[in-house]
Amino acid sequence: MAIKAIVYTSNTGYTADYAKLLHDHTDLPVYSLEDSRRKLKEGTEIVYLGWLMAGSVVGYKEAAKLYKIKAVCGVCLAASGSLTESVRKTHSIPNDVAVFTIQGGFDMKKLKGGYKLGMMVMSKILKKKLTADTEENRRIINMLDNGGSCVSADNLKDVISLVKAEKSNG
Ligand SMILES: Cc1cc2nc3c(=O)[nH]c(=O)nc-3n(C[C@H](O)[C@H](O)[C@H](O)COP(=O)(O)O)c2cc1C
Repeated sequence: MAIKAIVYTSNTGYTADYAKLLHDHTDLPVYSLEDSRRKLKEGTEIVYLGWLMAGSVVGYKEAAKLYKIKAVCGVCLAASGSLTESVRKTHSIPNDVAVFTIQGGFDMKKLKGGYKLGMMVMSKILKKKLTADTEENRRIINMLDNGGSCVSADNLKDVISLVKAEKSNG
């Protein structure tokens, strides 16, 4: 059974950037979860992308009620691939559904209200925990301090491959 559409939820735009990049590489239609309710038939097979908030993929639960999710992609601050197993566990995602976590971006200036307050606290905690001894950690510290985007086709390449294979499957 083939993936027919890309559905995403984004707060500050990085997940939306990945969803559009995936569209550029696969030609699948792309919808925000909100728009998809009006435009996409329930039960459609999709790949779902959502930003990571406190370990959960935002919108996953709702999307899973509406559609047949064939692959999930969590967009986060952490290094690509590092949260895959914890996301699978958090949402009890079955083994036949592919899970990816990829590094997005961060910009305190784009955050509002509770999200901003939460990240002001988290940023301090994270920076105490992360030692600047690896390139990966330095990249995260730099994003927390100055904002920045890690959105790239390279981070998305495994998702692109899977979606392309699934697309031509049906
Ligand atoms: C309130 C809040 C909680 C977050 N929690 C996590 C987290 O648990 N793990 C993580 O790696 N990134 C976390 N992030 C970072 C976002 O997932 C990251 O910035 C992502 O790229 C945002 O995507 P968006 O631009 O589509 O909203 C959090 C960000 C916010 C604002």
